Amino acid sequence: MTPAKEMLFLQLPLLLVLLPGGNNEDGGNSGNYPALNESNCLLIIKTFSFYNHSKVQHLSSGWLDGFEVYGWDRSSKNFTFLLPWSKGNLTNKEWEELRSYFSVFSSVFPLVLHSKVKEWQLEYPFEIQIAAGCEWHFGEDLVNFIRIAYDGSDLLSYQNNSWVPSPKGGSRAQQVWELLEKSKISQEITDGILPDICPRLLLSLLDAGKADLQRQVKPKAWLSSGRTPGPGRLLLVCHISGFHPKPVWAVWTRGKQEQPSMQRSDVLPHVDHTWYLRVTLEVAAGEAVGLACRVRHSSLGGQDLLLYWEQNHSKDLTILAVMVPLVLLKVGLLFWSRKYWKCCGLQPSSSFPLE
Ligand SMILES: *[C@@H]1O[C@H](CO)[C@@H](O)[C@H](O)[C@H]1NC(C)=O
Ligand SMILES: *[C@@H]1O[C@H](CO)[C@@H](O)[C@H](O)[C@H]1NC(C)=O
Ligand SMILES: *[C@@H]1O[C@H](CO)[C@@H](O)[C@H](O)[C@H]1NC(C)=O
Ligand SMILES: *[C@@H]1O[C@H](CO)[C@@H](O)[C@H](O)[C@H]1NC(C)=O
Ligand SMILES: *[C@@H]1O[C@H](CO)[C@@H](O)[C@H](O)[C@H]1NC(C)=O
Repeated sequence: MTPAKEMLFLQLPLLLVLLPGGNNEDGGNSGNYPALNESNCLLIIKTFSFYNHSKVQHLSSGWLDGFEVYGWDRSSKNFTFLLPWSKGNLTNKEWEELRSYFSVFSSVFPLVLHSKVKEWQLEYPFEIQIAAGCEWHFGEDLVNFIRIAYDGSDLLSYQNNSWVPSPKGGSRAQQVWELLEKSKISQEITDGILPDICPRLLLSLLDAGKADLQRQVKPKAWLSSGRTPGPGRLLLVCHISGFHPKPVWAVWTRGKQEQPSMQRSDVLPHVDHTWYLRVTLEVAAGEAVGLACRVRHSSLGGQDLLLYWEQNHSKDLTILAVMVPLVLLKVGLLFWSRKYWKCCGLQPSSSFPLE
């Protein structure tokens, strides 16, 4: 543990209170707080970087709920299975078919794009990101999806059994759409691989990877003050870190009153397969005392964490507030530079070139 982190956790006993969570009644209205929703998502990402007419680089990876399960070895043109349970229950023959499919796609796709540069008004250098997979929300049907982005902006997606050009994609999206509607390769994916393989693989991975995926790790939570938003104002930051699984709920409250102006970050991955979230609230300096950050997570056994903002608090934690994000930032960069698209709520990222 770094000294900064040690200091941090020493502070915790002073701030932490455990309260009964949503499943228990604590005499008030905490039973009205939302339940945590499970969702599972298997996601394959391919990124093609077109430098010029002769140079293209591509990267592929496969993710299940924040776990990187597949890589792609460009020299052997083969998947790499990154976790002991990565194969799920697909047979070796099925993996071999997928391998050959991916391998052909990876070499044909750039050729098609190069040939369409003029017609589709593509400008080197550009980047194409493709995300495909299936997603399962608790209590709902499993859905398949494909999304294609050009230079970090949505171009086209496949949902509910049809291709839909993105309004942002303009005439280019329309042209690509026309090609995909006719393309045999695209049909093999949308009518075959996606509906047949993806759900089976997802379900069998959920079973095979159970021990990792359902592991319960309690969040560590702490408060700090963020960059002062203006004279007489405070930015209260509630950090929730190191938890697993991903669904988490956290709010700033005064008594039982949720503070509507709070802002929630994305839930970001750590390299150890746990997650990080921050929830911020801007207030007048005099109004900070009495505010608390309330955290609910499945690992907490039906109790909520409650951290009270205390006077002088901001001074104690200023150094930590600076140091801790630096640690996280390093982790975050690792991920974003690999073009990690958030599973379940995809967003293309837009930097070029890779690494
Ligand atoms: C869980 O799902 C329900 C229904 O879709 C939704 O109303 C609720 O806000 C969700 N809870 C969280 C914590 O996202
Ligand atoms: C294409 O880009 C690569 C890498 O940037 C460069 O080495 C190569 O010379 C370029 N080729 C042409 C034909 O411009
Ligand atoms: C691809 O990798 C798998 C598993 O590592 C291996 O069994 C298979 O033989 C490889 N296929 C080729 C064509 O290299
Ligand atoms: C897909 O179809 C279902 C019902 O057929 C509908 O509820 C849903 O909104 C559709 N989703 C999209 C993204 O169009
Ligand atoms: C693989 O797992 C899926 C989902 O759990 C299941 O439906 C299927 O029957 C399994 N296939 C084999 C060959 O075991």
